[in-house]
Amino acid sequence: MKLLAISGSPRKDGNCEKMVKTVLELAEKRGFESDSILLSSTDVAPCRACGACREKGACVLEDDMEGICGKLEAADGIIVATPVYMGNYPAQLKALFDRSVLLRRKGFALKNKVGAVLSVGGSRNVGQEKTIQSVQDWMHIHSMIIVGDGAHFGGITHNPVETDELGMKTVRDTVENVCGVLELFR
Ligand SMILES: Cc1cc2nc3c(=O)[nH]c(=O)nc-3n(C[C@H](O)[C@H](O)[C@H](O)COP(=O)(O)O)c2cc1C
Repeated sequence: MKLLAISGSPRKDGNCEKMVKTVLELAEKRGFESDSILLSSTDVAPCRACGACREKGACVLEDDMEGICGKLEAADGIIVATPVYMGNYPAQLKALFDRSVLLRRKGFALKNKVGAVLSVGGSRNVGQEKTIQSVQDWMHIHSMIIVGDGAHFGGITHNPVETDELGMKTVRDTVENVCGVLELFR
């Protein structure tokens, strides 16, 4: 089974990418295959609503989204790590989410994949929970199965994540929870 971790931050080597590293390490320890998408090194343009994906089943924009769709389709579990930008997730992630409408139009290709969210803010209580819920909305729209950290909503951390022991525990708990649910399907 394969776990895919997405970093929604445009910042290389930042907090989201560190959380993604934790996801990949834990997935490997549990015997899962893993893969990642780092939006710091990918090019995903916003959807132009041209309708080609509805009519032809393919996107006309030529960027990294085709490869990203392949990774999303190949995954059994998807964990999205996102920063809080002005109280929600960043535009780079919104572009990916909007463009993923193609997978919905391909017979709900993400249906029943297990999803969870990790969110990091500049400090505590700055919108991580709301940001998580916004990403979960995307997962619901794809008919995914959404899990949290086993007690609350997912991974909730603040900058810098290395000093946020409590927050990183919610990150690890979320990954273990996703792996545990996926193992039920094995
Ligand atoms: C455009 C922008 C908006 C931000 N808005 C918020 C915010 O509303 N609340 C907050 O606590 N931090 C905010 N931040 C800080 C980031 O959430 C924080 O630095 C986070 O750790 C970034 O994740 P990264 O290290 O993975 O890039 C913002 C940062 C940027 C660049």
